[in-house]
Amino acid sequence: MSIIADDNDFEKQQTVKKNPIVQANVEETDKTFENNIRPKTFNTYIGQSALKETLKITIQAAKKREKPLDHLLFYGPPGLGKTTLAGVIANEMCVPIKITSAPALERPRDIIGILMSLEEGEILFIDEIHRLNKVAEEILYPAMEDFYLDMTTGKSQTVKTLRVPLPKFTLIGATTKAGELSGPLRDRFGIIHRLEFYNEKELSEVIQRTAGILEIQIDEKGAAAIAKRSRGTPRIANRLIKRVSDFALVKYDGKVTEDIANQALDILKIDEFGLDTTDRNLLKLIIEKYDGGPVGIETIAAAIGEDARTLEDVCEPFLLQCGLLQRTPRGRKVSPQTYRHLGYKIKNQSEQQSLF
Ligand code: ADE
Repeated sequence: MSIIADDNDFEKQQTVKKNPIVQANVEETDKTFENNIRPKTFNTYIGQSALKETLKITIQAAKKREKPLDHLLFYGPPGLGKTTLAGVIANEMCVPIKITSAPALERPRDIIGILMSLEEGEILFIDEIHRLNKVAEEILYPAMEDFYLDMTTGKSQTVKTLRVPLPKFTLIGATTKAGELSGPLRDRFGIIHRLEFYNEKELSEVIQRTAGILEIQIDEKGAAAIAKRSRGTPRIANRLIKRVSDFALVKYDGKVTEDIANQALDILKIDEFGLDTTDRNLLKLIIEKYDGGPVGIETIAAAIGEDARTLEDVCEPFLLQCGLLQRTPRGRKVSPQTYRHLGYKIKNQSEQQSLF
């Protein structure tokens, strides 16, 4: 039996739900997929070259001293490979890793349980560490600093404090919001690094590597076309390669070329900067209703029907990075480049000066 795909299936599917494909927050469907394609070594981990070089030295030094690594904090926009990098570090150190996230450590017993289950040298990775509650933080301080837990037994006057030793472990924290980490927690990380957006060449390599693993045929120009619209983010590049490959298979012979990639991305309504409908709505709102801004993020969120925190964490980092949006103390505003990109006429000189 053969299944004949309707030529318009791809287009129909793309309009079924809101289009979050180029927003870098992790979706449930990403998790298994990402685990299957994650690089395990520095040699196969593409990009972040300055950070990789520093980490290699740190790892070699820790190995020579036969001591665990210092606690590490990675920060930066979502989708740039913080979890992947933690896995690479564990692999290069030849130690096991436990992966969790701050919202999963709600009760004291969650964090105590995980700390007590660690092996000597093991890595504990806590994602979204800025969301750790106060109690969990207090438990972590002595654990990070001197590798013990302060446990209390008994009630009121008979209360006793027990010091429970822990194995020497390494905590790797990851956050999209380094500014929201409390000072005392931040100070307990020996090494703090920012992950940068990827350039198009690096993303093109990520795409070709993933295509190889997924047995997708793609040429260099096809990979470059996807890289161009992946907003500096491997997670998005990896999502797009799958969608573009579906399109290539349904409409052509399965091979991804530049022309086919561009057709598919146009149907997905991802423009040549990698912006999707949400981004464009946000920018258009500032231009059309607020004369280019400034306007507060809560107002924008209410007007376009999105959550303000999601806009801040997921949409904005890339718009800020590519200069299409600016953050000012009085709110968000757009730049002349935004007007040009979205096809608006820039106002005359005197009006423009008052705007920007
Ligand atoms: N997939 C996601 N991130 C990657 C990276 N940095 N290198 C290689 N493959 C990746």
